[in-house]
Amino acid sequence: MNPVINLQNVSKVFHRKSWLSLSEDENFVRAVDDVTISIDEGQSVGLAGESGCGKTTLGRLIAGLYEPTQGTVSINGRNINEGLKDIRRQVRRNCRMIFQNLDAALNPFMTVQQILEEPLKIHTDTTKSECKKRIELVLELVNLPGSFKNEYPHTLSGGEKRRVSVARAIVVPPKILIADEPVSALDVSIRAQIIDLFQHLRQELKLTMIFISHDLGVLNDVCDRLLVMYDGKIVEDASIENLRERTLAHPYSRKLTESVLQISVDSWQ
Ligand SMILES: Nc1ncnc2c1ncn2[C@@H]1O[C@H](COP(=O)(O)OP(=O)(O)O)[C@@H](O)[C@H]1O
Ligand SMILES: [Mg+2]
Repeated sequence: MNPVINLQNVSKVFHRKSWLSLSEDENFVRAVDDVTISIDEGQSVGLAGESGCGKTTLGRLIAGLYEPTQGTVSINGRNINEGLKDIRRQVRRNCRMIFQNLDAALNPFMTVQQILEEPLKIHTDTTKSECKKRIELVLELVNLPGSFKNEYPHTLSGGEKRRVSVARAIVVPPKILIADEPVSALDVSIRAQIIDLFQHLRQELKLTMIFISHDLGVLNDVCDRLLVMYDGKIVEDASIENLRERTLAHPYSRKLTESVLQISVDSWQ
């Protein structure tokens, strides 16, 4: 099978503009450090690791929202940072990212309908009535009543906002979905519902998925492969069975597994 996503020696260096920094070196942060991975079509890949290890940056590099400092990111064999604007746009259309921060992701001055309309306007030439139909369909798919289209984000609960952000990501059906900590701020019961939603969408839309979370229990539920990052590097690339059987290779991943509560380990069995 051909990999749908391919990263070859990808690094991303940020320049920190801190006036407090003491030496030249401290002006740089290597958020992603020489990452080489391939992801097959239809795979659901969990990306774990502690805060600040580079998960979001890696997600944004794959979504084409950042250009790598070094290396190449290819989707379906095509370097996404090369060539004409139109080609890049095509890639962006196939690949959507769901952002961690809901309040930044959902414009507070737009209704749900306007929020969902925006990607359709940017990426397609859908007519107004087709747009309306599509929005009804997508709200149904994420389990929200049609009447929600007239609501503003501030009137919605955390779980409902998350569903809207998922709806926005799939309203123009993507082939690749990158979800950045999509359940981290939710109550346990709502979290279970959103996890169900992702599992459902994955099958329904035949998605290739990258699911970013520091919670290994969540990744166990939605993924079939696990990548663990540490200090910008992928230190573990394993199947989810390795997580269940606690046979991860890298000491850091083993430490992560140990820190997962026993209660969730029990529920895996
Ligand atoms: N736009 C940015 N500018 C400068 N530094 C950044 C930027 N984005 C991320 N970083 C830094 O890169 C590192 C990795 O960040 P991030 O990818 O957000 O990690 P994670 O998502 O795993 O918490 C951190 O040290 C962070 O401070
Ligand atoms: Mg992050």
